Amino acid sequence: MTEKTAALRQAFEEKLNAVGSSEAAEQLRVEFLGKKGHISALMSELKNVPADQKKQAGQTINELKKYAEEKILEKSAQMHQMEEQRRLDAAESYDESLPMQIECGSYHPITLVQRELEEIFLSMGFTIEDYNEIVDDYNCFEALNIPKHHPARDMQDTYYLSTGQLLKTHTSAAQNTIMRKYGAPLRAVFPSRCFRNESTDACHENTFFQMEGIMIDTDISISNLIYFMKTMLSEVFKKDINVRLRPGFFPFVEPGFELDIECLICGGEGCPSCKNSGWLELCPCGMIHPNVLKYGGIDTEKYTGFAFGLGLTRLAMMKYGVKDIRVFNSGNLKSLSQFISQ
Ligand code: DAH
Repeated sequence: MTEKTAALRQAFEEKLNAVGSSEAAEQLRVEFLGKKGHISALMSELKNVPADQKKQAGQTINELKKYAEEKILEKSAQMHQMEEQRRLDAAESYDESLPMQIECGSYHPITLVQRELEEIFLSMGFTIEDYNEIVDDYNCFEALNIPKHHPARDMQDTYYLSTGQLLKTHTSAAQNTIMRKYGAPLRAVFPSRCFRNESTDACHENTFFQMEGIMIDTDISISNLIYFMKTMLSEVFKKDINVRLRPGFFPFVEPGFELDIECLICGGEGCPSCKNSGWLELCPCGMIHPNVLKYGGIDTEKYTGFAFGLGLTRLAMMKYGVKDIRVFNSGNLKSLSQFISQ
């Protein structure tokens, strides 16, 4: 029995020396000191030992047990300390030659187009105005010469609140308030989110962006309107843009127009993007209707003005070649983070 114990002790010491981790120390503990471990097995053999040697044999095994317990505790503490140190070293050491991994956000394409337009209009003496997204019927329709039951309302169904207010269908809804705030002469642009009760598809959204502009002064005519539109578009597209005006009906302008630009893809020759016409519809506009000026408190004997309603979302689609309008509200960062200011 004494020999067996001595052999076990030697085996234990050899294995102890080979332990290289806290996990291995635990395995060694189970192997020798566990319920089914070598030392317990040796203890259970005691019953076969002759009575006169039992005491001695028992003592030797107990000594081995105590020894193994102490050694394993010691080793386990050592291993934990070593592992902790390794963790700390790994956290502190870094390689300065590795590329930086900072994730930068990017601006939404509509924001990019909006800011670019704001810069252009600021440089032409316009102020930039902000206005609510929730408005009342008067501002959205009546003050724009669209009385109740006017058929023009059919094209602008929207979302109504229980207060009777509504989500504005166009940026024109701010015209009255801005005219009243500043009076004439006046040059202002006012970008905003707009809403319509529409089913969505590649070209329609229930939430989109426009930028409205008004200029009111003495002797303002259609040529001023064309000049400002051409200048602005040439700046946005970084080249001379040909425009044309077609008659268009909007109750708040008289005369009213659809401003088309020569197709940027085919240069006016006709292609699928412009439905072979060579022109793209971009910006409805016109000379502000005298009723609208009157509602805004402007003297119509003295002043005239033009207004335009630029589709910011539309413009962003053309500028960046986006074929599906739903990309903008999708929240899909893979699509949205590709755009950079040019
Ligand atoms: N508010 C119109 C719309 O969203 C667009 C518009 C047309 C605005 C003519 C104007 C304008 O300022 O003169 O359908």
